[in-house]
Amino acid sequence: MTATLAEHGNITDILIIGSGAAGLTLALRVADAGRVTVLSKGDLREGATFYAQGGIAAVLDEADSVDAHVADTLTAGVGLCHKEIVEHMVANSAGAVSWLVNQGVPFTTQDALQNPARNNNTPLSELSSLHLTQEGGHSHRRIIHATDATGKAVFETLQRRAVEHPNITLLEGCTAVDLITRPETESDQRRCIGVYVLNQATRKVEAISARFVALATGGASKAYLYTTNPDGASGDGIAMAWRAGCRVANMEFNQFHPTCLYHPHAKSFLITEALRGEGAWLELPDGTRFMAQFDARGELAPRDIVARAIDHEMKRLGCDCVYLNIAHKPADFVREHFPTIYQRCLEFGIDITRERIPVVPAAHYTCGGVMINAQGETDVANLYAIGETSFSGLHGANRMASNSLLECFVVAFGAAEHIAGRIASTDLVDNIRPWDESQVTDSDDEVLVSHDWDEIRRFMWDFVGIVRTTARLERAERRIRLLRDEIRDYYIRHRVTNDNLELRNLALVAELIISSALQRKESRGLHYTLDYPEQIVNPGDTILIPPPH
Ligand code: FAD
Ligand code: SIN
Repeated sequence: MTATLAEHGNITDILIIGSGAAGLTLALRVADAGRVTVLSKGDLREGATFYAQGGIAAVLDEADSVDAHVADTLTAGVGLCHKEIVEHMVANSAGAVSWLVNQGVPFTTQDALQNPARNNNTPLSELSSLHLTQEGGHSHRRIIHATDATGKAVFETLQRRAVEHPNITLLEGCTAVDLITRPETESDQRRCIGVYVLNQATRKVEAISARFVALATGGASKAYLYTTNPDGASGDGIAMAWRAGCRVANMEFNQFHPTCLYHPHAKSFLITEALRGEGAWLELPDGTRFMAQFDARGELAPRDIVARAIDHEMKRLGCDCVYLNIAHKPADFVREHFPTIYQRCLEFGIDITRERIPVVPAAHYTCGGVMINAQGETDVANLYAIGETSFSGLHGANRMASNSLLECFVVAFGAAEHIAGRIASTDLVDNIRPWDESQVTDSDDEVLVSHDWDEIRRFMWDFVGIVRTTARLERAERRIRLLRDEIRDYYIRHRVTNDNLELRNLALVAELIISSALQRKESRGLHYTLDYPEQIVNPGDTILIPPPH
């Protein structure tokens, strides 16, 4: 059910922060074991999940194999994927899709595309009836999808299921501020016992006790001026976990999606890679195709390569965008495969069945995050991290398309099983210290928050973007340190709001990205620096360790 924080009370068994693919999957999978509370800082759907277009990578075709999907992921990850984790995710991909089908997700079938009069709700007797599309880095067609709005179909189905479940409560307008931890008596690990939550309706911060807490807060691409992500992608989970004592890894690998619609009124609208999978090509303003000069796989090279090629050509020619062209395909084919993109572009006066689409790269996905194992466990006991906020080792130096949703489901399954196995022996701590507001006042200078927000995102784009140099990174580092101190000072003197919480988290995450980028003295995958253009032998993860408590 959907409730308010006041109706909910301040105790639960499993508190999940985030209502995207990762959070809702964990909720549904664990709900028979205890009371589950799911928080979202905005509307429940305002995570990246709702906007996912291309689909979910899974081995379903007989001509495909787990080994091929593993090999493609390792290649895209350029030597940094953790092979055993990749194997685990891919081996569980068909199972994840099967579960989603059983939940009722209306995936596109072969039949629906061949016979458009039939809708996508055709019952699925077998997974083999699903239509598979193609994306960059994949050597086979293996992307299951719901036309070009896969995330919406997944989100709406899982949300409906969660609302129906008697053990699940969904709370909107509740921003997690910080994790509450205490030392464990029998080990030197800390344990998470709850979360401070800003109730946006009352503007009060309340403590919620929980046996287990899961961070499912999505990524941090809002750290960049141009992004495909929704506004809330400010890296809150990574920042909260860091402050609670968790290690964070590989933050330098922020993925830039090659093709975001370039139009003054189109905020963050992605043009799915599946367009290129179905035959669209990239062109310069004069109509010349250019991808073959950069990679033999052309438009279907992994994302880091395509985004860098576009960035290179835009800088070389001084042009504002390049173009994606699918107008050579039959108009019905384009409309059937990509109804959302067709409609959205039409609203901006672009008929993609006849005209090419102006596109630019934009920050899209946070490959690094809170370090976890296959069950989502972090360095803090009873604290889990799942989905984009986490670092499992799956993506290496560059995530392959459509492996992200897959990771959300597979790690959520593992975490649910792990929590269910421990819930009977885990106590609740309900004497948590209340939030102290005695020293703070309301802010009368919100421009400080909005200015810092804009400043961080602009210098991250300019200095820590697709192509980096040590001088640019050092410049960014000096700026973020100054801002960090100012933001900390503002934070301790003022009552918390959603905006100043997001700013505090965004500044911390930007600092982690810059510091990781400075540590990597090579170019690999998404981290490309002119000062170290080569790859080193025996590369490792960039692991950051938080200061002791
Ligand atoms: P999200 O779906 O981002 O959800 C985060 C949740 O956390 C939200 O509910 C938010 O409100 C909540 N939250 C955050 N901070 C707080 C806080 N402090 N307190 C309370 N709540 C909080 N991947 C694929 O595999 N295939 C695709 O086709 C694909 N297409 C994409 C298209 C777009 C436009 C984008 C942006 C991403 C796409 N991705 C795709 C990536 C993928 O969608 C995301 O990685 C994935 O959906 C992340 O899911 P999540 O559950 O981890 O987080
Ligand atoms: C897309 O549809 O191009 C995005 C897919 C992804 O991010 O995995």
